Amino acid sequence: MTPTAVTPQSIQHAAALLHQGKLVAIPTETVYGLGADASNPDAVAKIFLAKGRPADHPLIVHLAYARQIKDWAINVPEVAWRLADEFWPGPLTMILQKKASVPMAVTGGQNTIALRVPNNAVALWLLREFGGGIAAPSANRFGRISPTLATHVIEELGDAVDCILDGGPCAVGVESTIIDLTDSQPTILRPGRISRSQLEAVLQTPVAIKSQHKIRAPGMLAAHYAPNTPAFLCTTDTLLALLDQQRSHGKRVGVLAFSTELSQLTCQHLLNLPAQADNYEAALYCALRELDKLQLDSILVEKPPEQEDWMAVNDRLNKATI
Ligand code: TXA
Ligand code: MG
Repeated sequence: MTPTAVTPQSIQHAAALLHQGKLVAIPTETVYGLGADASNPDAVAKIFLAKGRPADHPLIVHLAYARQIKDWAINVPEVAWRLADEFWPGPLTMILQKKASVPMAVTGGQNTIALRVPNNAVALWLLREFGGGIAAPSANRFGRISPTLATHVIEELGDAVDCILDGGPCAVGVESTIIDLTDSQPTILRPGRISRSQLEAVLQTPVAIKSQHKIRAPGMLAAHYAPNTPAFLCTTDTLLALLDQQRSHGKRVGVLAFSTELSQLTCQHLLNLPAQADNYEAALYCALRELDKLQLDSILVEKPPEQEDWMAVNDRLNKATI
């Protein structure tokens, strides 16, 4: 399997594959998705098989236009339209009450549905050409690091996917913010690029953040987004101490650092994502994947600051590490 360059023909071909119930990997602004026709339960079942994902974990349905919300959800609150106006296309997923016609395979048996309009030209082109909703989880094996390049999808899924559209690197690089609008108070189920304060500014009401939601969300599982190499999240001081200790035992150790304090560290396998850069999110999964490929004994990850703009990164690192 090689990634397919984006042309009018390859988009038409990918849309035809989706209509035939096949799987197409799609670039989005967050991560690559493993897409299938959301109205076709057999096609959706293939997603779970390819990923090795338990069947009760619901999928996000991707749409070309906000007005298509009505094809998938009922009792849509006014705030959903406001959020769509403000943030779509973009990295925000809304949980709403599902329409009876939506296959249970998509929602993992729940009566709610996750919807989003991605902000990626290739994804939007395919969605328009296809016409319907595309169910797409991140295009990685269950529990692994999400793909932010077409080649990552090949590493993860190989020939289990019928076509991989190559849209280059994902601009945002971490999965969308998920907001549940089915409760009386809007609740963030998964942090992402769109922050709580951005959401509160639009909604003019407090937004809760739930780490353990009553609805099962795989992004909420303790071990997720994880490299195969044991990875440890630690403060700068602990990291330095552990590095010394591990090296003195002859271990091969990688370091993923965020502070300028560690930028001069002498370590053969150091990746430093500068705290000042605004693209550290986009570089995160690539960095973890790169270190994982080196088959080291361990990866030491420096704990980023506890600030709102680091929330998504902290969330993913907490789940990727021990
Ligand atoms: O950025 C993204 O959201 C990417 C791209 C491809 O769009 N997709 C993605 O999908 O991250 P996935 O399947 O890896 O994560 C979807 C998350 C899961 O945590 C899932 O449990 C949650 O969305 N989810 C989906 N439907 C839900 C529902 N009805 N209620 C609660 N959580 C839901
Ligand atoms: Mg995922």
